[in-house]
Amino acid sequence: MRTQVIEHPLVDAKLTMLRDENTPSAVFRQLVDELVTLISYEATREVQTEPVEIVTPVAPMTGTKLTEPRPIVVPILRAGLGMLEGMSKLLPSAEIGFLGMKRDETTLEAVTYANRLPDNLSGRQTYVLDPMLATGHTLIASINYLLERGARDVTCICILAAPEGLKNIQDAVGDRAEVNIFVAAVDDHLNERGYIVPGLGDAGDRLYGVVD
Ligand code: URA
Repeated sequence: MRTQVIEHPLVDAKLTMLRDENTPSAVFRQLVDELVTLISYEATREVQTEPVEIVTPVAPMTGTKLTEPRPIVVPILRAGLGMLEGMSKLLPSAEIGFLGMKRDETTLEAVTYANRLPDNLSGRQTYVLDPMLATGHTLIASINYLLERGARDVTCICILAAPEGLKNIQDAVGDRAEVNIFVAAVDDHLNERGYIVPGLGDAGDRLYGVVD
């Protein structure tokens, strides 16, 4: 597993606004969108391409296009949905799969309530969107669903990570697959309720408001 923290002053400044408890939901959603586009720019650096012949108004040339089969982007509902628009700006032709997972607040384990993924992901590059890599349980379950379907190349795009969650993913995935994590910052630790510290609070609640 490889973890890459995106180091860029714009990322740091937007992340600071995102963390601020006074930032309202509408601004929070806009900042997530912008941050995801910046993180995805790096995360898609190894997207597979192939040569294509085109003719410009001046001359023929060999350009580049994304290789088939297209990459698949998988937002983890609920909070990952807030990242889809920012990612789609860079990869508009990607196929979208969905995983719905919520955290059991007592055990902190991931509970799956929706799974809409293609049956066969052999040879597909997959991009998982989940803003908060806390315990890592949600991402471990998601990565396992993708590997069961044949994916071998999984890139996770997150906004914040905790060191405990990164270690849990490393231990769970081992050398079964090539997993890359791209994140705007790795914070200090998880608190006793499994929240990232200093973090930004509950990303789903801040994106969409609280639904009981
Ligand atoms: N999920 C969140 O939304 N925030 C955290 O800090 C941890 C998990």
